[in-house]
Amino acid sequence: MIVADDYESMSKRAGEIVIEEMKRKPDIVLGLATGSTPEGLYEELIKAYRQGQIDFSRLKTFNLDEYIGLPPAHSQSYWRFMFEKLFEQVNINYRNIHVPDGMTEDIDGFCKDYEEKIRGAGGIDLQILGIGVNGHIGFNEPGSPSGSRTKKVELTEETIRANSRFFESEDQVPRYAISMGQATIIETKKIILLASGKNKADAIAKAVEGPITEEVPASILQSHPDATVIVDREAGSKLKGRE
Ligand code: PGA
Repeated sequence: MIVADDYESMSKRAGEIVIEEMKRKPDIVLGLATGSTPEGLYEELIKAYRQGQIDFSRLKTFNLDEYIGLPPAHSQSYWRFMFEKLFEQVNINYRNIHVPDGMTEDIDGFCKDYEEKIRGAGGIDLQILGIGVNGHIGFNEPGSPSGSRTKKVELTEETIRANSRFFESEDQVPRYAISMGQATIIETKKIILLASGKNKADAIAKAVEGPITEEVPASILQSHPDATVIVDREAGSKLKGRE
C-alpha cells in the first residue's frame, strides 16, 4: 500500500514499477486499464520511451474491458482511448495489442478466445487496475462471481452515472460491456491498483481494510500474493491504518 501525495506522484510511483518490470522483461505481457486514473501512468511510460529507457516492440498487451456496441473508432471506446493515450505514441507492434471487441457477434466465443490468447501468451505478468466508486475492477460490478472469467457484464446504474461524464448524456452510455473476470485478474502475476480523489476513498477503505467479499470486487486483491495499491492522499483518506 502506497499513499502518494497527489495524482502526479501516484502516477510517477506506478510508472517506476512498470518501467522496472519492462526493463527486466522486454517481452512482458501487460494487462491495461482505461479511465481517468491511469492516464498519468501512461504519460510516464511515454516519457520514458522517448528518453530511450523502455522499448514496447516485444511486449504484448491485454485490456481489461470494452463497451458492447461501440465501434473501435467511437470517441469513447476503450480501443480508441488506448490508441490515443498510449499505443500511437510508442513503438508497440499493433499485432501484440488485445482489446475486447465490443462489436463481436459471438460474445461467448470471443470471451473464450480472449482467455485462450492470454493463456497462450503465458499469462499476464503485470496488471494495471483502476477501481470504481462501487469497488468494481474492470467492469466486475458488486456481486459478480469471484470465479468468473472474461464475460459479458451489465453495468450498474452507479457505473453508468460515473461514466456519463464522458458522454453527452447518461442514456448514451452503453449498458453492457465485455470484461475480464475476477479469476482472470487474480491469476495475473503482479498487480498495481491505482486510485485518485475523494470519491474513491470509500471504495479503497473497503477494498483494502474490509472483508474479502464479492460485494466489493477489488477486495479479492487481498488474496493476491503481489498486489500493490497506490493511491493519492484523498483516495487514501478513509484508511484506518493511515493518518
Ligand atoms: P476512472 O475509472 O479511472 O475513470 O475513475 C476507474 C474504474 O471505473 O475502474
